[in-house]
Amino acid sequence: MLFSKILLLVALVISVVAVNGVPDLCATSADCSNTQYCSSGYCVSCRSNTDCALNEFCSTNVFDLSQFGSCKKFDKDGDDCVAYNPTEMTNLLTSNSTKCAYTYFNYRYNNYPAGSLSIDYQGTCVNGKCRMCNYASGAYQSGEGKNSPRTCVFPGKFATVHSQSWASGKYFEDPTQVWLAILFCLIVLILTFHIIGFLKK
Ligand SMILES: *[C@@H]1O[C@H](CO)[C@@H](O)[C@H](O)[C@H]1NC(C)=O
Repeated sequence: MLFSKILLLVALVISVVAVNGVPDLCATSADCSNTQYCSSGYCVSCRSNTDCALNEFCSTNVFDLSQFGSCKKFDKDGDDCVAYNPTEMTNLLTSNSTKCAYTYFNYRYNNYPAGSLSIDYQGTCVNGKCRMCNYASGAYQSGEGKNSPRTCVFPGKFATVHSQSWASGKYFEDPTQVWLAILFCLIVLILTFHIIGFLKK
């Protein structure tokens, strides 16, 4: 009797855990909670990267419902990489660790199981290092969403358009800014000494 109760409890826990990762089904966004969208028939929390925090991306991996429409952290920043072309990037046999991209197996391709990969998010491989975006090409993500529009700053991270001038990467990008910052400190120091000297008179 006790044994069957324990078994029931275990089954219940497992089913709750299993169901938890699966998004609710929907026909329109009216079927989802206030903070969610209806995307491809599922209630999801993001539809575009601007729904996510800075340096996160919205997963389009429909083959894994625990990923689809959820924000994923771009954690390949600074990893060694090779600047593969699209064909190499989606090739199953190319080393995944040197790709500056998040990929998933695409079951829709006819040549399954040989198959091919789809790209969930592609970063940029500059200086042999993987970055979320290329600051030199003026990368930005505008558009609507739950979070702010963003622009790329050195060495390849997103900052909000509003705060970019304060981002340290923005300073390193342009030596003039660094010199201006140093000059500013000097001016403040000189002014301070002048005021102290004036007060002592
Ligand atoms: C790379 O990752 C994909 C998807 O996870 C996998 O199918 C593939 O076999 C991996 N390729 C290599 C070379 O490890």
